[in-house]
Amino acid sequence: MAAEIIDGKAISQQIQAEIKTEVEELKQKHNLVPGLAVVLVGEDPGSQVYVKNKGIACQKAGIKSLEFRKPADFPESELLQLVQELNQNPEVDGILVQLPVPKHINEKKILYAIDPAKDVDGFHPFNVGRLMIGDPIYLPCTPAGIQELLVRAGTKIEGAHVVVVGRSNLVGKPIAMILVQKAKNANATVTVCHTRTPNMADHTRQADILIVAAGKPKAISGDMIKPGATVIDVGVNRLETGLCGDVDFESAKLVAGKITPVPGGVGPMTITMLLKNTLRAARLRLEKSGK
Ligand code: GUN
Repeated sequence: MAAEIIDGKAISQQIQAEIKTEVEELKQKHNLVPGLAVVLVGEDPGSQVYVKNKGIACQKAGIKSLEFRKPADFPESELLQLVQELNQNPEVDGILVQLPVPKHINEKKILYAIDPAKDVDGFHPFNVGRLMIGDPIYLPCTPAGIQELLVRAGTKIEGAHVVVVGRSNLVGKPIAMILVQKAKNANATVTVCHTRTPNMADHTRQADILIVAAGKPKAISGDMIKPGATVIDVGVNRLETGLCGDVDFESAKLVAGKITPVPGGVGPMTITMLLKNTLRAARLRLEKSGK
């Protein structure tokens, strides 16, 4: 039997509607409009699409979106200065510097300069550390979106064997950390595989939940999947034939119990979780102000 498709777009729309209601409430009760600053350096086509979509999603949810588009040769010192200004700007609750940044800019230096209280990406070491010890403030958006998809798709996480393929700071490591926590919608047993893992299929075939962020088109095929498993495909690869994920969807859907498509799976959830984090940042600002 073919797998049930996890519709990330529909789930995203549902959550975005919930966020919109909360944003309206915040505005009416406290006269507070959450603000998100997005900084894009250079003309990477993928990043341009993401930034545009973030702007649209913010507008729909009632979140104020400030966009800063800078040329590819924008100096690192000026980017640092912009981040400092946004740190100080009281209208900005969240700051996101779109990755990747051009080669002449030290990515770590920029990410570490963002005020952890405004780090809605959850990439600052302070927030990574808080996640690690099980006391997170902001979860990174893609992994948070994956967890939410699993919950809303009705896949039981507690006690499940989760196998993650990929160990990036953006997805692999944080999703492993989120799902292994002693917490609600977690308590999984987690295995992390990567490019140096021998006999990868021996691991992936044991997964009740298989999360693939390998950065390689169609790296996982149906014969590497346990029948009935939930498969989450984080990959977005632009091939001549169109977009495809890191999972070979056609063979995987014949074996999996549930599977996310590409596009329309994890992708829309990342932006949705960004909105959620921005709303959280605004609430925290309100709490701090004692209103
Ligand atoms: N580039 C790809 N995904 C992301 C993300 O979640 N945040 C940022 N800042 N850049 C990205």
